[in-house]
Amino acid sequence: MAEQGKRRDLDKLVKDGLSALVFGVGYKVGIIDHFIKIKQPCTAQELAQQTGMKQRYIQEWLNSMVAAGIVTSHADDRFSLDYPESEMKTHGHGATVLPILSAMLPKLEAVLPSKGPKGYGYWDPFLEWWGGYHKPEDIQMWINDLLLPVLDLKSSSDFKLLDLGCGYGRYTLMIAKRFPNSTVYGIDPDRKSIDEANMQLQKEALSNVNFLCVPGEQLPQDWTENFDFVILNDVLHDAYAVDGILTEVRRVLKSDGFGAAYDPPVSSYSAKLTDTDIAQLYLPLSLFSCLPMSLSGPYGEGYGVGWGYEKRREKIEKHGFRLVKVGDMDIDVVQERIVFQK
Ligand SMILES: C[S@@+](CC[C@H](N)C(=O)[O-])C[C@H]1O[C@@H](n2cnc3c(N)ncnc32)[C@H](O)[C@@H]1O
Repeated sequence: MAEQGKRRDLDKLVKDGLSALVFGVGYKVGIIDHFIKIKQPCTAQELAQQTGMKQRYIQEWLNSMVAAGIVTSHADDRFSLDYPESEMKTHGHGATVLPILSAMLPKLEAVLPSKGPKGYGYWDPFLEWWGGYHKPEDIQMWINDLLLPVLDLKSSSDFKLLDLGCGYGRYTLMIAKRFPNSTVYGIDPDRKSIDEANMQLQKEALSNVNFLCVPGEQLPQDWTENFDFVILNDVLHDAYAVDGILTEVRRVLKSDGFGAAYDPPVSSYSAKLTDTDIAQLYLPLSLFSCLPMSLSGPYGEGYGVGWGYEKRREKIEKHGFRLVKVGDMDIDVVQERIVFQK
């Protein structure tokens, strides 16, 4: 039982959830975007005209947001939204996951019973929502903060890098573009992801990237001792066949090569999860997407985000890798980097 005095106010929790849903709906249907652009404070009628929506609905949305303390109500029936635009957009997008998760509920309900299917694969609307966080400037920042220090471990610019579990290849392409002397491979077992990656590759006309639709636990036989770097970006906690993947990473890395796994910085131990913002964000997402994904497939072990970084490190070490300390910062706000060598 929770310690006395440490209990959340459940009444407020539920009401905040409702407010977050309505806030997310406002972002999704464009009310927030118009609100940002219109001269503030404005009336419900002005905002309704600007959005092309019915005034009565806009009024109810505004009042819900006033009650939640997000929109400010002024004396002359005018309203203002007193947050920086970038904050509104980031959190507005964040809140749109709520209706997506609600729509995923039947999938979750089907795998919860002790008997029956263990998991399910990705769901496109969820992936698209997640992709909304990967703007080009965010990927550049990730390269600067979390990848460059790993690449600096080998000083050559003509390295060979494998992006294992590359998804739509957004990171793969950005890495190849940034390091034109490198050779970059992106692999993923998901056909749709590799097709998307190849379509983008055609548009960008880069000659140093290759995408292959293969599972990480069955890499091409002629790749033994082939790569200077293997990166697993948001892959291990989502993947099935983690042991097979790590066995293959060991085979395809050169003896002086480096592996780097990036996953949410959530601890393996429940006692360390109290009041951690990042765990509060990632564990619910894992319940609906990462965990069922990692339980799908013929040998899904079911890691998910709750596996945590301590146990992930142990798993990597069990595969005979030595952990390598890189710089001072192994954690940013959304990911923890684990670097390792044979
Ligand atoms: C959360 S996505 C990350 C995609 C990409 N790395 C990124 O950060 O945009 C996880 C990816 O791991 C892939 N994956 C899952 N199981 C895998 C396996 N056994 N081998 C290789 N990739 C796998 C999924 O298909 C998916 O594209």
